[in-house]
Amino acid sequence: MHYKQKSDPNSLYDEDDPQFWEDIYLADDAGWDLEGPTPIFSELADQFPKGDLCIIGCGRGYDAITFAKRGFNVTAVDFAPSPIFSLKKMADQAKIKMNILEKDIFTLLPDHESSFDYVIEQTCFCAIHPSHREDYRMMAQGILRSGGHLVGLWFPLDKDLNEGGPPYGTNIDEVKSIFHPNWEIMREEFPEHSIKPRKGREKLIIFKKVDGGVK
Ligand SMILES: C[S@@+](CC[C@H](N)C(=O)[O-])C[C@H]1O[C@@H](n2cnc3c(N)ncnc32)[C@H](O)[C@@H]1O
Repeated sequence: MHYKQKSDPNSLYDEDDPQFWEDIYLADDAGWDLEGPTPIFSELADQFPKGDLCIIGCGRGYDAITFAKRGFNVTAVDFAPSPIFSLKKMADQAKIKMNILEKDIFTLLPDHESSFDYVIEQTCFCAIHPSHREDYRMMAQGILRSGGHLVGLWFPLDKDLNEGGPPYGTNIDEVKSIFHPNWEIMREEFPEHSIKPRKGREKLIIFKKVDGGVK
């Protein structure tokens, strides 16, 4: 997985600008794109009770299709136009209904307050600047219902923050300290079916929101 770096003289935008990501999609250089569903999310789609589910920074949204096919009421959000276009096309072709939003995840509140039973995270947390991690926590806490779950593949655990990004590094202690208090850990494991380049570098942690308010 690689990204254009801000130090790249060809990259004129910061990662909080949709054009930064759009340029990578247009250059067909989205090294994070699995070109299909994420195995662990396909397993979870069979295990979780159905509900309202939001995929943030969904990219081309293969997992959005999977969850929708299994009966979840899916909202997929990304602020780059190209992947949203691809996902709309894929959903139309599969005759699947879902809510596809070309939108900044930091603008989901207040319209989507307490709207979801699940929020799905995959390489969105590492895509945003670390100075927005607290905003990310508030967004996730705000859009989930009380008792809802933040289902994250936290990545990349082998990269230090001072190495820059995106992707910006994190570690398990940091992730747990962000989603605390008002969150309970329901499940934590290194997925057996992580894709090869991410094996041991991403960890599934499912947090449950245990209070009703946004703090
Ligand atoms: C590394 S890609 C991951 C895409 C997808 N989750 C996947 O695994 O294929 C990060 C995605 O997050 C999107 N993104 C980054 N910051 C965002 C923001 N503030 N609001 C909405 N989308 C954002 C980018 O456009 C990009 O599609």
